[in-house]
Amino acid sequence: MEHIALTEKLEFSRIIAGCMRTLDAGMDGDKLRAFVHGCMDLGIDTFDHAPVYGAGKCEKIFGDEVLRKDPSLRDKMKIVTKAGIILPGQKGNSHIYYDSTKENILAEMDASLERLGTDHVDLLLIHRPDVLSNPQETAEALAQIVKEGKALNVGVSNYEPAQLEALQKYLPVKVVANQMEFSVKATYNFFNGVVDNAQMNQTGLMAWSPLGGGSVFKGEDEQSVRLRAEIQKIAEAHQVSMDVVMYAFVLRHPAKIMPITGTMNLDRVKNAVDALKLELTYDEWYAILAASRGFDVP
Ligand SMILES: NC(=O)c1ccc[n+]([C@@H]2O[C@H](COP(=O)([O-])OP(=O)(O)OC[C@H]3O[C@@H](n4cnc5c(N)ncnc54)[C@H](OP(=O)(O)O)[C@@H]3O)[C@@H](O)[C@H]2O)c1
Repeated sequence: MEHIALTEKLEFSRIIAGCMRTLDAGMDGDKLRAFVHGCMDLGIDTFDHAPVYGAGKCEKIFGDEVLRKDPSLRDKMKIVTKAGIILPGQKGNSHIYYDSTKENILAEMDASLERLGTDHVDLLLIHRPDVLSNPQETAEALAQIVKEGKALNVGVSNYEPAQLEALQKYLPVKVVANQMEFSVKATYNFFNGVVDNAQMNQTGLMAWSPLGGGSVFKGEDEQSVRLRAEIQKIAEAHQVSMDVVMYAFVLRHPAKIMPITGTMNLDRVKNAVDALKLELTYDEWYAILAASRGFDVP
């Protein structure tokens, strides 16, 4: 498995296993352990979490059933988690909101470590930009977390370039990664400076929902129907399944984007790994882009 170096000391497997659907996938301890071992056998050593996945339950089952049962696994894997989303009811609030205040980020970090059963994560991301946040204050929280060794590295998710730069200005350590939406369905982050900024600053890019949340397989909206027709054609030409082509679309970009799989079905995860062997041609890549947007580039 190819690895991407985010710093001199931090490398992620090119394919990352997402844990957002742990509960939906009906994972109990045995199934989750088999999933984690299966991923590691495929060369996937990086696992993506967030406190909001299952309102903390996804981190907790991973901590209780994987890391606490076999602590030797901890040093063999890289753990990513996030902070900064407050779900409805969590603090007596009626609406979901984002909170990147120092107090909240510090508290969320501690709560994640407790649930995950580890004394550090390899990467902590601010999950989404908090409109009311002061980047200097958020940076202070992240710097403190790194200084205390609770997160070895920090980064962001869903940040546009200016938001990332504002945070970076006050941070004594580098923002090593930005986790963004990239898929055949969602191509907007190729066009808004996110990728260019990452290439300029050598920031790692992780792709969430690399299969568009699964919608292309059965969606009846015009975009999904167009995409399905184009992707099926390319898949047949290469004798692979449609998901391989969709992962290959994300992998084709020279920014070396790391797809985060959403499925917890190992056969389907393996298709993401197989996609590393498929390099789409310019013609194929732009044909998918055209199917996604409904028009050719001018
Ligand atoms: N930073 C953020 O804001 C953010 C937001 C969303 C997600 N994430 C991260 O990104 C990860 C991936 O997100 P995602 O789950 O939306 O990813 P995704 O891969 O785009 O979608 C996963 C969905 O696709 C389905 N699927 C996968 N392979 C399939 C196949 N061959 N045939 C039919 N259906 C298939 C899965 O069904 P099955 O489960 O039945 O296989 C699942 O419902 C999450 O786990 C999380 O770690 C981050």
